[in-house]
Amino acid sequence: MKQLVFATANKNKIAEVKLKLGEGYNFLSLDDIGCTEEIPETTGTLEGNALQKARYVKDTYGYDCFAEDSGLEIDALDNRPGVDTAHYSGSRDATANMTKVLNELDGQVQRNARFRAVIALIQGDREELFEGRVDGYIAKEMAGEGGFGYDPIFIPEEHKLTFAQLPQEIKKGISHRSRAVAKLVTYLKQ
Ligand code: IMP
Repeated sequence: MKQLVFATANKNKIAEVKLKLGEGYNFLSLDDIGCTEEIPETTGTLEGNALQKARYVKDTYGYDCFAEDSGLEIDALDNRPGVDTAHYSGSRDATANMTKVLNELDGQVQRNARFRAVIALIQGDREELFEGRVDGYIAKEMAGEGGFGYDPIFIPEEHKLTFAQLPQEIKKGISHRSRAVAKLVTYLKQ
């Protein structure tokens, strides 16, 4: 069976890909290969950071690998927070991060935004990128209890509710991450 490392410590993400790809691959997490150090993410773009993480694993541990980076891009903020999404306010606190975004958009009518996920896959000497995105806009205030991160302020364009108000099954079906994973899975199954 082919071995493939998913360069994440997040067990939920690994379970999601495993479920979609079936039995053809033996998935390994960073824990499984003994990688406990922080992998650098310093390129300034989602594509660059995903590639940087995948190359780090390939170069350091020798495994075929894929890595993901995702973030929120807001038109009126020149696509910020982007690669700084996880710690936009200076901390990883979701409420502080959303408050910073809402303050920066105060009085702003143009609130278009998107979540984007990029997956970088390295097999042998071949590198591939897969992108998933969900377009929408930033709400005027936080609403909803579900999900995580910026879900209470992101309204996908195909719905009138925030990601945190929508049933999580609906969010998962249209999310940037599930769309990027779907492209990866289609490629790996070819
Ligand atoms: P990661 O690269 O998947 O860890 O995502 C980076 C950051 O983007 C997370 O810490 C969250 O703040 C935010 N983020 C990514 N995906 C979502 C989502 O589906 N909903 C809300 N926030 C998200």
